[in-house]
Amino acid sequence: MSTGTSGDLLDDRNKHAQSVFKHEILRHYIKPFIAMPGSTAADNRVVILDGFAGRGRYPDGEPASAELILQAIRELQASRKVTGFFAEKERVSFESLSRVVREYQAGGLDVLALPGNVENHLDKVVAAAIGVPLFLFLDPCGAGLPFERLRTVLSGPRRENRPQTEVLLNFSADLSRRTGGLLNKNSDAEAAWMDDACGGPWWRDIAMNALRASEKGSFEPVVHAVAEEYARRLAEVSGSFPIVVPVRRRLHHQPIYHLIFLTRSPYGLWVFADAVGKARAIYLRHLGQLDDDEPEMLFTPADDMEWLIEREWNKAIEIVKGNIRNLLRARKGQPFKLVQEAKAVFGSSYGFATESVVVAALQALVASREAVIVDPGKRLRERVIGAASPLRAG
Ligand SMILES: C[S@@+](CC[C@H](N)C(=O)[O-])C[C@H]1O[C@@H](n2cnc3c(N)ncnc32)[C@H](O)[C@@H]1O
Repeated sequence: MSTGTSGDLLDDRNKHAQSVFKHEILRHYIKPFIAMPGSTAADNRVVILDGFAGRGRYPDGEPASAELILQAIRELQASRKVTGFFAEKERVSFESLSRVVREYQAGGLDVLALPGNVENHLDKVVAAAIGVPLFLFLDPCGAGLPFERLRTVLSGPRRENRPQTEVLLNFSADLSRRTGGLLNKNSDAEAAWMDDACGGPWWRDIAMNALRASEKGSFEPVVHAVAEEYARRLAEVSGSFPIVVPVRRRLHHQPIYHLIFLTRSPYGLWVFADAVGKARAIYLRHLGQLDDDEPEMLFTPADDMEWLIEREWNKAIEIVKGNIRNLLRARKGQPFKLVQEAKAVFGSSYGFATESVVVAALQALVASREAVIVDPGKRLRERVIGAASPLRAG
């Protein structure tokens, strides 16, 4: 069980597969966010906030969230003007963070380490992003920004489609599990804290109902239900699509947190799907390398993970094939651009499938004459797909 402190997350990353997962998502998503909305923004500007940044870099020199973002900014330095803000409350972590940020300032990046509570900096960040695409990465160890604070930011002018606003936040499952447990024992101490984080007491009924419905009295359904409803509410106030990804320390464990992603753009949904799918394979390989106490066996955990990755890949292809068939049927064979149906194309394989799964699914459908490529587009997501024969599609 996580202690929920930042120290253990930051010092001993090798044991923390859950950090590998979120960092791989950042590694695969931040650059496209800078590149895409930044391509049409005035002066190619973009603003990014890492609100709970930690130290920026691990003691072994590996990049943590702040440095991953800094690296992405640097890679696109020639074509995009990105302002990066990195907030950290804890003094020692802030000193380390400042050193990392200074290295990138020296390379000409417009980046700033902000000491103290991120809440005190939020207005300044939002002001810097007026008329400019904004990405908020909010990764607290427990309760994050109060819901009302987030609602204020996301429901004002930032509710428009442009400039784009996207959020990736860590919703701590430990928090809802612990608080759900307290609620069950009629203790209200932490529950009030949770009210603040969730924007009201709605989560109590959700938690109690999920707990009652759980045959084994497990808290796992509780944390899923609370995270899903939290994401739905935040998506509603911000006019976004929500994606909720449970993150586990080990595959058989309950989630340690949920990553909640909010975007208004089908392109965001598409690229995020690919980023999460890629991050999952890296996370699984990481799990396969861990030195867990395993009994003597012929196959190593690394073998098991390769087997699982292949199984998930094949299953995802079947799911995506079915989804494209369904889309063509529902549209009576009328062609559609993949990205415009991002959620339906990935469907239940969202979180597992990458773009290469979609490529394989399409190849199979074309080979079996169930689909045709009407327009190959410049990129996979812009490909237009139609039914090979209207009769089949009907
Ligand atoms: C989970 S750790 C961050 C890990 C980091 N984002 C990464 O992925 O490498 C959370 C960090 O947020 C900091 N923190 C907690 N509350 C904060 C607040 N209100 N404002 C700014 N930082 C905060 C903690 O000190 C801790 O370093």
